Amino acid sequence: MIDLRSDTVTRPTAAMLAAMQSAPVGDDVFGEDPSILALEQQAAALFGKEAALFCPSGTMCNQIALKVHTQALDEVITHDFSHINQYESTGFALFSGIKLRLTNGAEGKVAADEIASLINPPFDWLAHTRMVWLENTCNKAGGSCYTLAELQNLYAACQQNGLLLHIDGARIFNAIVAQGYTTQDIGKVCDSLNFCLSKGLGCPVGSLMVGSGSVIRQARRVRKVMGGGMRQAGYLAAAGSYALEHHIERLASDHHRAKTLATALQQYPYISTVSTPETNIIMLQIDPKVGATAWVNAMATHHIKTVTFGNNMVRLVTHLDFTDAMLERVLTVLDSLRF
Ligand SMILES: Cc1ncc(COP(=O)(O)O)c(C=O)c1O
Repeated sequence: MIDLRSDTVTRPTAAMLAAMQSAPVGDDVFGEDPSILALEQQAAALFGKEAALFCPSGTMCNQIALKVHTQALDEVITHDFSHINQYESTGFALFSGIKLRLTNGAEGKVAADEIASLINPPFDWLAHTRMVWLENTCNKAGGSCYTLAELQNLYAACQQNGLLLHIDGARIFNAIVAQGYTTQDIGKVCDSLNFCLSKGLGCPVGSLMVGSGSVIRQARRVRKVMGGGMRQAGYLAAAGSYALEHHIERLASDHHRAKTLATALQQYPYISTVSTPETNIIMLQIDPKVGATAWVNAMATHHIKTVTFGNNMVRLVTHLDFTDAMLERVLTVLDSLRF
């Protein structure tokens, strides 16, 4: 079976499992798990921030970040494509009592020069504009990345206007590898960020929120009340520490395979558009006469899993468990399909 639905489908490597098995653990609700403490320190240092918090998922990290940074009746500026808007079932309203102010720019990006005009004036009947929320890379936009200059301008615009800036960096290391900026660069252009271990980095579980000491202390309280306080989860944190050391540079191979696959996909007339992948995600628009479901089903008969993404779109994601041999097999199957 070849699984291109997501970069979340990977299994830990033997070396990662060995790191997990030998991890020292303790009760993290008491703050006593050495492997979690080490991972949190590692993550904070990487991004040049004071502290970090290990969480079960990217969604929980996102909801914690919104809760910590906002008060009920606040508004958050973000792009329509953002995960918090599209795929978290209005959790922002449930947990934080806030609303989102959506932008619609190209590639799922918020632009610095639109910030000032999106801020509400201070009237009792308008939500208070509190922060800007970016997604880097942007999943729904096909893994698009902000440039460092775009991020710097956005952070400057936020600071000029008294807004906080948070980055949902579920796939921040894909952006870092593709764009050539560093974790320290990213730490300097946001107040806080999240990143996932369980996507391109190939871990079974886990995400981290990184920020100032006071923000992370508050985040820890919110994580607990959301049921995210884990006990001997150092086994999982050890996978994270391993991945941060061994699985970042190799993301370039995922990006390369995505480009090769995207180039090949362009030749089939029943695929109307193929995104140009900057990172590890390819978006296809299937001709409505064929239909995305028919294409996904045809691939599945050849044991290749892909996923529909609405409006006859299909998403393909390359990852740690997608090898060159698998890429060759996918290319052969594509050549054999007839519609
Ligand atoms: C950009 C982005 N943020 C957050 C998440 C949520 O992560 P999780 O599935 O770990 O809850 C995802 C998941 O795909 C994502 O793509």
